[in-house]
Amino acid sequence: MAEHANFIVFEGPEGAGKSTQITRLQARLEAEHIRPVLTREPGGTPAANEIRKVILDPGLIIDPLPEFLLYSASRAQHVAEIIKPALDTGKTVVSDRFSGASIAYQGYGRGLDLTFIHDLTARVTQGIKPDLVLLLDINPEVGLKRVAARGQKDRLELADLSFHQRVRGGFLAQAEADESWHTVNAAQAPDVVETEIWNAVARKLSL
Ligand code: TMP
Repeated sequence: MAEHANFIVFEGPEGAGKSTQITRLQARLEAEHIRPVLTREPGGTPAANEIRKVILDPGLIIDPLPEFLLYSASRAQHVAEIIKPALDTGKTVVSDRFSGASIAYQGYGRGLDLTFIHDLTARVTQGIKPDLVLLLDINPEVGLKRVAARGQKDRLELADLSFHQRVRGGFLAQAEADESWHTVNAAQAPDVVETEIWNAVARKLSL
């Protein structure tokens, strides 16, 4: 069965509903006989999952630069072990976050130099870029309430509202500048969000 080589990434502020929508997209793709490789960042491999635990531990103090380097270490392993081999063999990859999150969180949110982030990211991703980035946009005030209802917050979720507002701005700026990004209003009903996502994916995969 023919597979479509495509790299699809979900991004968005906290509580945008990425997990729900990724599950729904998986079902829609499988109905079209496309079995995507589902993965996530930080994480996606055993070593990167260990790095994820460190990054998100609410009991640890991690400065912006080492925070970015840890995300980059996780990403380098993830690209080498999962993403590149899957794309090289013609698979469709769906990742819950990728490098756009570092631009938004560590660049716009933490204030690290954007050129530095772009340069290191180009190295760790081996130049791989998503074919489609689905930005599930939500006001962090709404998203953080959804997160709070889930229980204990991780280290990033604990950052203040102004940080999360800058992160949202960082995502919207990338969507504005890059035509591979597609923004969906994630405050809408899940079924509406699902339909908008599917329309964008179906267009990209020529389904
Ligand atoms: P998740 O909540 O989507 O699983 O992502 C984990 C957290 O890590 C989330 O708060 C976003 C953050 N993050 C960054 O700050 N930089 C990154 O490069 C990535 C991939 C995630």
